[in-house]
Amino acid sequence: MTILGIESSCDECAAAVVVDGRQILSNIVATQIPFHEIYDGVVPEIASRKHTEWISEVVSEALDKAGLHPSHIDGVAVTAKPGLLGSLLVGLNFAKAFAWSLNIPFIGTDHMLSHLYAPRLSGEVPDYPFLGLLVSGGHTIICKVDDFDQVSVLGTTIDDAVGEAFDKVSKHYGFGYPGGAYIDKLAVSGNAGAFAFPLPNLHKGEHRYDVSYSGLKTAVINQLDQFRRRDGDGNLFDASPANIAASFQKTAVDILLRALLHAVEDTGLTTIVAGGGVAANSYLRSCLAGRKDLRCIFPPLDLCGDNGAMTAGLGYQYLARGETSPMSLTASARVSMFKRRYP
Ligand code: KG4
Ligand code: ZN
Repeated sequence: MTILGIESSCDECAAAVVVDGRQILSNIVATQIPFHEIYDGVVPEIASRKHTEWISEVVSEALDKAGLHPSHIDGVAVTAKPGLLGSLLVGLNFAKAFAWSLNIPFIGTDHMLSHLYAPRLSGEVPDYPFLGLLVSGGHTIICKVDDFDQVSVLGTTIDDAVGEAFDKVSKHYGFGYPGGAYIDKLAVSGNAGAFAFPLPNLHKGEHRYDVSYSGLKTAVINQLDQFRRRDGDGNLFDASPANIAASFQKTAVDILLRALLHAVEDTGLTTIVAGGGVAANSYLRSCLAGRKDLRCIFPPLDLCGDNGAMTAGLGYQYLARGETSPMSLTASARVSMFKRRYP
Protein backbone atom coordinates (compact mmCIF):
# COMPACT_ATOMS: atom_id res chain seq x y z
CA MET A 1 0.00 0.00 0.00
CA THR A 2 1.48 3.34 -1.08
CA ILE A 3 0.58 6.16 1.28
CA LEU A 4 1.00 9.91 0.93
CA GLY A 5 1.71 11.45 4.35
CA ILE A 6 1.12 15.15 5.03
CA GLU A 7 2.33 17.03 8.09
CA SER A 8 1.60 20.71 8.78
CA SER A 9 1.06 20.84 12.54
CA CYS A 10 3.63 23.54 13.24
CA ASP A 11 6.33 25.21 11.17
CA GLU A 12 7.38 22.42 8.80
CA CYS A 13 5.39 21.95 5.62
CA ALA A 14 6.02 18.29 4.86
CA ALA A 15 4.89 15.49 2.58
CA ALA A 16 6.22 11.98 1.98
CA VAL A 17 5.43 8.79 0.14
CA VAL A 18 5.90 5.56 2.10
CA VAL A 19 5.19 1.98 1.01
CA ASP A 20 3.66 -0.49 3.50
CA GLY A 21 4.57 1.65 6.49
CA ARG A 22 8.28 0.96 6.03
CA GLN A 23 9.89 2.02 2.77
CA ILE A 24 10.35 5.75 2.29
CA LEU A 25 10.18 6.71 -1.40
CA SER A 26 10.34 10.44 -0.72
CA ASN A 27 10.32 12.73 2.30
CA ILE A 28 10.10 16.47 1.61
CA VAL A 29 10.34 18.90 4.53
CA ALA A 30 10.04 22.62 3.73
CA THR A 31 11.00 24.46 6.87
CA GLN A 32 9.59 27.87 7.74
CA ILE A 33 12.36 28.63 10.24
CA PRO A 34 13.66 31.71 8.33
CA PHE A 35 10.18 33.28 8.54
CA HIS A 36 9.81 32.78 12.30
CA GLU A 37 13.45 33.29 13.29
CA ILE A 38 13.14 37.07 13.42
CA TYR A 39 10.35 36.71 16.02
CA ASP A 40 12.28 34.07 18.06
CA GLY A 41 9.26 31.80 17.94
CA VAL A 42 6.55 30.40 15.68
CA VAL A 43 3.97 33.02 14.67
CA PRO A 44 0.75 31.01 14.05
CA GLU A 45 -0.64 33.37 11.39
CA ILE A 46 2.59 33.25 9.38
CA ALA A 47 2.78 29.47 9.77
CA SER A 48 -0.69 28.83 8.38
CA ARG A 49 -0.18 31.31 5.54
CA LYS A 50 3.08 29.66 4.48
CA HIS A 51 1.46 26.22 4.62
CA THR A 52 -1.30 27.49 2.33
CA GLU A 53 1.28 28.85 -0.11
CA TRP A 54 3.53 25.78 -0.07
CA ILE A 55 1.43 22.67 0.48
CA SER A 56 0.58 22.02 -3.15
CA GLU A 57 4.19 22.31 -4.28
CA VAL A 58 5.51 20.21 -1.40
CA VAL A 59 3.08 17.38 -2.21
CA SER A 60 3.95 17.57 -5.92
CA GLU A 61 7.63 17.38 -5.06
CA ALA A 62 7.05 14.33 -2.83
CA LEU A 63 5.21 12.58 -5.68
CA ASP A 64 7.87 13.57 -8.26
CA LYS A 65 10.73 12.42 -6.06
CA ALA A 66 8.94 9.09 -5.53
CA GLY A 67 8.50 8.87 -9.32
CA LEU A 68 4.74 8.50 -8.90
CA HIS A 69 1.55 9.98 -10.28
CA PRO A 70 -1.32 10.77 -7.86
CA SER A 71 -3.18 7.78 -9.28
CA HIS A 72 -0.51 5.48 -7.78
CA ILE A 73 -1.40 6.58 -4.24
CA ASP A 74 -3.61 4.15 -2.28
CA GLY A 75 -4.40 6.38 0.70
CA VAL A 76 -3.61 9.68 2.39
CA ALA A 77 -2.53 10.15 6.01
CA VAL A 78 -2.47 13.58 7.59
CA THR A 79 -1.72 15.03 11.01
CA ALA A 80 -5.08 16.06 12.51
CA LYS A 81 -3.84 16.82 16.06
CA PRO A 82 -2.22 18.22 18.12
CA GLY A 83 -0.70 21.44 16.83
CA LEU A 84 -1.50 24.96 15.71
CA LEU A 85 -5.11 24.89 14.56
CA GLY A 86 -4.67 27.10 11.50
CA SER A 87 -1.64 25.09 10.36
CA LEU A 88 -3.30 21.72 10.93
CA LEU A 89 -6.36 22.80 8.92
CA VAL A 90 -4.26 23.48 5.82
CA GLY A 91 -2.82 19.96 5.71
CA LEU A 92 -6.09 18.33 6.75
CA ASN A 93 -8.16 20.07 4.09
CA PHE A 94 -5.55 19.45 1.41
CA ALA A 95 -5.50 15.75 2.34
CA LYS A 96 -9.29 15.53 2.24
CA ALA A 97 -9.43 17.19 -1.19
CA PHE A 98 -6.64 14.95 -2.54
CA ALA A 99 -8.33 11.78 -1.24
CA TRP A 100 -11.80 12.86 -2.39
CA SER A 101 -10.64 13.74 -5.90
CA LEU A 102 -8.98 10.33 -6.33
CA ASN A 103 -11.65 8.42 -4.42
CA ILE A 104 -9.09 6.91 -2.05
CA PRO A 105 -9.28 6.64 1.76
CA PHE A 106 -7.80 9.16 4.12
CA ILE A 107 -6.91 8.98 7.80
CA GLY A 108 -6.28 11.77 10.29
CA THR A 109 -3.52 10.88 12.73
CA ASP A 110 -2.07 12.01 16.06
CA HIS A 111 1.27 13.77 15.67
CA MET A 112 2.71 12.33 18.90
CA LEU A 113 1.92 8.77 17.78
CA SER A 114 3.70 9.60 14.52
CA HIS A 115 6.84 10.63 16.43
CA LEU A 116 6.72 7.26 18.24
CA TYR A 117 6.40 5.49 14.88
CA ALA A 118 9.43 7.22 13.31
CA PRO A 119 12.14 4.67 14.33
CA ARG A 120 10.19 1.92 12.52
CA LEU A 121 10.98 3.64 9.24
CA SER A 122 14.66 2.93 9.74
CA GLY A 123 14.07 -0.75 10.42
CA GLU A 124 13.99 -0.61 14.23
CA VAL A 125 10.91 -2.62 15.15
CA PRO A 126 10.70 -3.19 18.90
CA ASP A 127 8.09 -5.55 20.33
CA TYR A 128 5.29 -4.03 22.35
CA PRO A 129 5.05 -3.05 25.14
CA PHE A 130 7.82 -0.49 25.55
CA LEU A 131 8.31 2.90 27.13
CA GLY A 132 7.96 5.99 24.96
CA LEU A 133 9.87 9.21 25.50
CA LEU A 134 8.20 11.95 23.47
CA VAL A 135 10.17 15.15 23.65
CA SER A 136 9.44 18.10 21.41
CA GLY A 137 8.82 21.83 21.44
CA GLY A 138 5.26 21.39 22.66
CA HIS A 139 5.27 18.09 24.56
CA THR A 140 7.20 16.08 27.11
CA ILE A 141 5.58 12.71 27.65
CA ILE A 142 6.76 9.48 29.27
CA CYS A 143 4.36 6.73 28.32
CA LYS A 144 3.74 3.02 28.14
CA VAL A 145 3.11 1.91 24.57
CA ASP A 146 1.09 -1.28 24.05
CA ASP A 147 0.47 -0.86 20.32
CA PHE A 148 0.91 1.84 17.68
CA ASP A 149 -2.35 3.42 18.87
CA GLN A 150 -2.42 2.26 22.50
CA VAL A 151 -0.56 4.70 24.68
CA SER A 152 -0.93 5.41 28.40
CA VAL A 153 0.70 8.52 29.73
CA LEU A 154 2.72 7.89 32.88
CA GLY A 155 4.26 11.32 33.24
CA THR A 156 4.36 14.66 31.56
CA THR A 157 5.58 18.18 32.20
CA ILE A 158 3.75 20.20 34.81
CA ASP A 159 4.77 23.44 33.06
CA ASP A 160 7.07 23.98 30.04
CA ALA A 161 7.97 21.31 27.50
CA VAL A 162 11.66 20.38 27.37
CA GLY A 163 12.13 21.76 23.83
CA GLU A 164 10.42 24.97 24.91
CA ALA A 165 13.00 25.33 27.72
CA PHE A 166 15.84 24.91 25.19
CA ASP A 167 14.18 27.51 22.96
CA LYS A 168 13.57 30.04 25.76
CA VAL A 169 17.10 29.81 27.17
CA SER A 170 18.51 30.16 23.68
CA LYS A 171 16.27 33.13 22.95
CA HIS A 172 17.33 34.89 26.17
CA TYR A 173 21.04 34.52 25.46
CA GLY A 174 20.71 35.06 21.71
CA PHE A 175 22.20 31.66 20.81
CA GLY A 176 19.89 31.14 17.83
CA TYR A 177 16.44 29.86 16.86
CA PRO A 178 15.16 27.21 17.33
CA GLY A 179 17.32 26.81 20.41
CA GLY A 180 17.79 23.06 20.77
CA ALA A 181 20.28 22.48 17.98
CA TYR A 182 22.27 25.65 18.85
CA ILE A 183 22.55 24.71 22.53
CA ASP A 184 23.51 21.15 21.60
CA LYS A 185 26.33 22.48 19.38
CA LEU A 186 27.55 25.11 21.87
CA ALA A 187 27.55 22.58 24.72
CA VAL A 188 30.19 20.45 23.00
CA SER A 189 32.92 22.92 23.95
CA GLY A 190 31.46 23.84 27.34
CA ASN A 191 31.89 22.54 30.87
CA ALA A 192 28.65 20.94 32.09
CA GLY A 193 29.89 21.33 35.67
CA ALA A 194 30.32 25.12 35.46
CA PHE A 195 26.86 25.69 36.93
CA ALA A 196 25.01 23.44 39.37
CA PHE A 197 21.41 24.09 38.39
CA PRO A 198 18.79 22.49 40.64
CA LEU A 199 16.53 19.57 39.72
CA PRO A 200 12.82 20.06 40.47
CA ASN A 201 11.43 18.46 43.58
CA LEU A 202 9.22 16.02 41.69
CA HIS A 203 10.44 12.55 42.43
CA LYS A 204 7.81 11.15 44.76
CA GLY A 205 4.23 9.88 44.70
CA GLU A 206 1.98 10.86 41.84
CA HIS A 207 4.69 13.06 40.26
CA ARG A 208 7.32 10.30 40.06
CA TYR A 209 7.27 10.33 36.26
CA ASP A 210 6.60 14.04 35.81
CA VAL A 211 9.07 16.74 34.85
CA SER A 212 9.19 20.50 35.26
CA TYR A 213 11.27 23.06 33.40
CA SER A 214 10.12 26.44 34.65
CA GLY A 215 12.47 26.36 37.67
CA LEU A 216 15.46 25.45 35.52
CA LYS A 217 14.53 28.12 32.99
CA THR A 218 14.32 30.77 35.73
CA ALA A 219 17.63 29.64 37.25
CA VAL A 220 19.45 29.82 33.90
CA ILE A 221 17.89 33.10 32.78
CA ASN A 222 17.53 35.09 36.01
CA GLN A 223 19.71 33.52 38.70
CA LEU A 224 22.83 32.43 36.85
CA ASP A 225 25.31 33.67 39.45
CA GLN A 226 23.62 31.81 42.30
CA PHE A 227 24.51 28.50 40.67
CA ARG A 228 28.02 29.24 39.38
CA ARG A 229 30.68 26.83 40.63
CA ARG A 230 34.41 27.29 41.37
CA ASP A 231 37.16 25.24 39.79
CA GLY A 232 39.89 23.40 41.72
CA ASP A 233 41.85 26.67 42.19
CA GLY A 234 38.85 28.41 43.70
CA ASN A 235 38.15 30.53 40.59
CA LEU A 236 34.60 30.97 39.36
CA PHE A 237 33.91 29.24 36.05
CA ASP A 238 33.27 31.61 33.14
CA ALA A 239 29.67 32.44 32.35
CA SER A 240 30.51 31.73 28.70
CA PRO A 241 27.81 30.69 26.20
CA ALA A 242 29.38 27.23 25.98
CA ASN A 243 29.41 26.74 29.79
CA ILE A 244 25.84 27.99 30.17
CA ALA A 245 24.67 25.76 27.30
CA ALA A 246 26.46 22.65 28.59
CA SER A 247 25.28 23.07 32.19
CA PHE A 248 21.70 23.81 31.15
CA GLN A 249 21.60 20.90 28.70
CA LYS A 250 22.95 18.45 31.29
CA THR A 251 20.32 19.47 33.84
CA ALA A 252 17.49 19.46 31.28
CA VAL A 253 18.42 15.92 30.23
CA ASP A 254 18.99 14.74 33.82
CA ILE A 255 15.45 15.87 34.69
CA LEU A 256 14.10 13.73 31.84
CA LEU A 257 16.24 10.73 32.67
CA ARG A 258 15.29 10.71 36.35
CA ALA A 259 11.58 10.47 35.49
CA LEU A 260 12.22 7.95 32.70
CA LEU A 261 14.31 5.69 34.95
CA HIS A 262 11.56 5.73 37.57
CA ALA A 263 9.21 4.43 34.86
CA VAL A 264 11.75 1.73 33.90
CA GLU A 265 12.06 0.68 37.54
CA ASP A 266 8.32 0.53 38.20
CA THR A 267 7.15 -1.08 34.93
CA GLY A 268 10.10 -3.42 34.40
CA LEU A 269 10.14 -2.31 30.75
CA THR A 270 13.68 -1.88 29.45
CA THR A 271 13.02 -0.91 25.83
CA ILE A 272 12.68 2.82 25.27
CA VAL A 273 11.62 4.47 22.03
CA ALA A 274 12.36 8.18 21.80
CA GLY A 275 10.79 10.65 19.39
CA GLY A 276 10.32 14.36 18.74
CA GLY A 277 12.78 17.15 17.97
CA VAL A 278 14.64 16.88 21.30
CA ALA A 279 15.36 13.20 20.53
CA ALA A 280 18.07 14.65 18.24
CA ASN A 281 19.95 15.92 21.32
CA SER A 282 23.42 14.42 21.37
CA TYR A 283 23.78 14.44 25.16
CA LEU A 284 20.44 12.65 25.65
CA ARG A 285 21.40 10.11 22.99
CA SER A 286 24.82 9.45 24.51
CA CYS A 287 23.45 9.11 28.08
CA LEU A 288 20.96 6.48 26.96
CA ALA A 289 23.40 4.74 24.63
CA GLY A 290 25.64 4.29 27.65
CA ARG A 291 22.98 2.29 29.53
CA LYS A 292 23.78 -1.31 28.70
CA ASP A 293 20.78 -2.48 30.75
CA LEU A 294 18.38 -0.68 28.40
CA ARG A 295 17.55 -0.94 24.69
CA CYS A 296 17.16 2.66 23.57
CA ILE A 297 15.84 3.30 20.11
CA PHE A 298 16.17 6.74 18.54
CA PRO A 299 14.92 7.76 15.11
CA PRO A 300 17.65 8.76 12.65
CA LEU A 301 18.34 12.50 12.96
CA ASP A 302 16.33 13.41 9.84
CA LEU A 303 13.24 11.70 11.29
CA CYS A 304 13.42 13.26 14.78
CA GLY A 305 11.81 16.53 13.78
CA ASP A 306 8.50 16.91 12.03
CA ASN A 307 8.14 15.07 8.72
CA GLY A 308 5.50 13.44 6.55
CA ALA A 309 7.13 9.99 6.42
CA MET A 310 6.23 9.17 10.02
CA THR A 311 2.67 10.35 9.33
CA ALA A 312 2.44 8.09 6.27
CA GLY A 313 3.93 5.15 8.21
CA LEU A 314 1.48 5.50 11.08
CA GLY A 315 -1.43 6.13 8.70
CA TYR A 316 -0.66 2.89 6.87
CA GLN A 317 -1.20 0.93 10.10
CA TYR A 318 -4.75 2.28 10.43
CA LEU A 319 -5.58 1.92 6.73
CA ALA A 320 -4.23 -1.65 6.66
CA ARG A 321 -6.67 -2.39 9.49
CA GLY A 322 -9.49 -0.93 7.37
CA GLU A 323 -9.87 2.22 9.46
CA THR A 324 -10.48 5.52 7.72
CA SER A 325 -11.56 8.99 8.82
CA PRO A 326 -14.80 10.64 7.75
CA MET A 327 -14.70 13.79 5.60
CA SER A 328 -16.22 15.56 8.64
CA LEU A 329 -13.02 15.05 10.70
CA THR A 330 -11.84 18.32 12.24
CA ALA A 331 -8.42 19.36 13.47
CA SER A 332 -7.73 19.64 17.17
CA ALA A 333 -5.05 21.65 18.93
CA ARG A 334 -4.80 19.26 21.88
CA VAL A 335 -3.64 15.70 22.53
CA SER A 336 -6.88 13.92 23.30
CA MET A 337 -6.31 10.21 22.89
CA PHE A 338 -3.76 9.81 25.67
CA LYS A 339 -5.11 8.62 28.99
CA ARG A 340 -3.11 9.16 32.11
CA ARG A 341 -2.64 5.93 34.02
CA TYR A 342 -0.20 4.61 36.61
CA PRO A 343 1.63 1.31 36.21
O1 KG4 B 1 9.20 17.64 17.09
P1 KG4 B 1 9.61 19.03 16.70
O2 KG4 B 1 10.35 19.22 15.40
O3 KG4 B 1 8.36 19.98 16.66
C1 KG4 B 1 7.34 19.86 17.59
O4 KG4 B 1 6.46 18.99 17.41
O5 KG4 B 1 7.42 20.63 18.60
O6 KG4 B 1 10.49 19.60 17.92
C2 KG4 B 1 11.03 20.89 17.90
C3 KG4 B 1 11.82 21.08 19.18
C4 KG4 B 1 12.31 22.52 19.36
O7 KG4 B 1 12.01 22.96 20.68
C5 KG4 B 1 13.83 22.42 19.16
O8 KG4 B 1 14.58 23.39 19.87
C6 KG4 B 1 14.08 21.02 19.68
O9 KG4 B 1 12.99 20.25 19.19
N1 KG4 B 1 15.35 20.45 19.20
C7 KG4 B 1 16.36 20.08 20.01
C8 KG4 B 1 17.43 19.63 19.18
N2 KG4 B 1 17.01 19.74 17.87
C9 KG4 B 1 15.73 20.23 17.91
N3 KG4 B 1 16.47 20.12 21.35
C10 KG4 B 1 17.63 19.69 21.91
N4 KG4 B 1 18.70 19.26 21.17
C11 KG4 B 1 18.63 19.20 19.82
N5 KG4 B 1 19.68 18.77 19.11
ZN1 ZN C 1 6.68 17.19 16.33
